[in-house]
Amino acid sequence: MGLINFPAALRIVALAGILLADLAYSIDLDINDEQSIKAAASTTTYAMMTYYKGNESGQIPGAFPTKWWEGSTLFLALLQYWHFTGDTTYNDELRVGLEWQAGDDDYMPSNYSSFLGNDDQMFWGLAAMTAAELQFADATDVGSGYSWLSLAQGVFNSQIKRWDNTSCHGGMRWQIWEWESGYTMKNAISNGGLFQLSARLARYTHQAIYSQWAEKIWYWSLSTPLISNSTWHVADSTSAIHHCDDQGDTQWTYNYGTYMMGAAYMYNYTNGSTVWLDAVNGLLTKTFDTFLSNNILEEITCEPTEQCNDNDILFKGLLSSWLSFTALLVPSTYNKIMPVLKASAQAAAKSCTGHNNNTCGVRWYLSTYDGWIGMEEQISATNIFVANMIAFDRSAPVTAYTGGDSTSNPSAGETNSSDTNPKESPITAADKAGAIMLTIAFVGGWIGIMGFILMGS
Ligand SMILES: *[C@@H]1O[C@H](CO)[C@@H](O)[C@H](O)[C@H]1NC(C)=O
Ligand SMILES: *[C@@H]1O[C@H](CO)[C@@H](O)[C@H](O)[C@H]1NC(C)=O
Ligand SMILES: *[C@@H]1O[C@H](CO)[C@@H](O)[C@H](O)[C@H]1NC(C)=O
Ligand SMILES: *[C@@H]1O[C@H](CO)[C@@H](O)[C@H](O)[C@H]1NC(C)=O
Ligand SMILES: *[C@@H]1O[C@H](CO)[C@@H](O)[C@H](O)[C@H]1NC(C)=O
Repeated sequence: MGLINFPAALRIVALAGILLADLAYSIDLDINDEQSIKAAASTTTYAMMTYYKGNESGQIPGAFPTKWWEGSTLFLALLQYWHFTGDTTYNDELRVGLEWQAGDDDYMPSNYSSFLGNDDQMFWGLAAMTAAELQFADATDVGSGYSWLSLAQGVFNSQIKRWDNTSCHGGMRWQIWEWESGYTMKNAISNGGLFQLSARLARYTHQAIYSQWAEKIWYWSLSTPLISNSTWHVADSTSAIHHCDDQGDTQWTYNYGTYMMGAAYMYNYTNGSTVWLDAVNGLLTKTFDTFLSNNILEEITCEPTEQCNDNDILFKGLLSSWLSFTALLVPSTYNKIMPVLKASAQAAAKSCTGHNNNTCGVRWYLSTYDGWIGMEEQISATNIFVANMIAFDRSAPVTAYTGGDSTSNPSAGETNSSDTNPKESPITAADKAGAIMLTIAFVGGWIGIMGFILMGS
């Protein structure tokens, strides 16, 4: 097939038409205008929700069968969208989905529990924690269900039981079950994620157990190659079978972000401890040294080569949210963080010009649509727009002492039967085969084997 050979003049007219169309469908973002940011977020959130089928008849709320953890990132984005814009359009989907996947108050729903990783479950715990901190009405107040705080506590309770002293003197393994590849690794997002969740529970509840665990996970992480408190380098993973003396060194924004976020909560919770301030500043500086292109956030490991998979595309959106919370909790970082949030949002807006309907691309730093399309692109764009709302609303996430009224249940999730060791409750070979297949799909996604299809622009 050859190209249609338009006369040059016609081609110029056609090109001008495309440019005009692009202009008409660009997100015209004025980064200093609150309404303009809200409008941009509304556009990307609408597109994000076109991928959500959980509220349709015959569908399961909050279920993303092949990528369960991603549901938590969708709901995280929706929570912050609602909080900072006041738009309640999606709140029913949000509440129902967050409850439906709750399992026995711990985000280990039996449909998924036999192949989840610690990080997958942890992200749902962070979503519930965010709901509590942003004062999203407890489901118990508007019907039936678990309180947001108890769900975060349930995830914490089930995860600390998996703290693994059989290797490396502690640490969370990446995976929960032995048959999953990745079980032999201890990784930054599982440990940094539980660290963040513990720090947020500490600040919200003032219960000592949570700050003790935050410190324990932090100092254990420092004792491994996962994180260094001299260079502030964060490695992706380390091998339990090699006594955690090696490092898988792929660089990802969210690994830095989750440790920074946890340190920010500990700083705020301790009324300004210098240990945590040093950690926040060290990680923030290193993050910006590593992942910025002209002040625009870039996932350096996969964006230049266009090899980001669905998971990877979400990471800098998560970092965007965590940067905005850090700026609120550690006010001295605000002036350093804000220019990056602004430049990234402006570039992201220019990437949202695809398909004449504001489809957003992956690489914000190109400042133009790059041909990619998917729910993940829309989630990350929503996150960076909403993160900029802290310029207008600097109210910090609440605690039980500053207006938060989500109901506490310190023993949430303690009785979940699907969380017991499957060696003690035998499963059939068929179940196991099914779980392994799903695991390969999941792990493949994480490692980047699957990639995704590049759509032409
Ligand atoms: C935008 O157009 C693309 C290509 O037709 C389509 O796949 C996508 O669903 C559309 N997005 C919205 C929000 O309508
Ligand atoms: C599902 O939610 C979307 C908004 O994301 C809405 O447009 C749609 O009407 C809802 N569908 C049903 C069946 O409630
Ligand atoms: C689990 O699967 C069943 C059968 O498809 C479904 O009815 C239920 O809603 C699912 N639960 C969750 C938490 O996804
Ligand atoms: C922080 O300060 C408040 C108010 O002075 C005090 O009640 C609280 O105990 C302090 N927190 C810590 C962890 O020292
Ligand atoms: C904790 O966060 C609040 C809310 O943003 C802020 O006012 C306060 O100054 C922070 N505490 C410290 C010690 O910086």
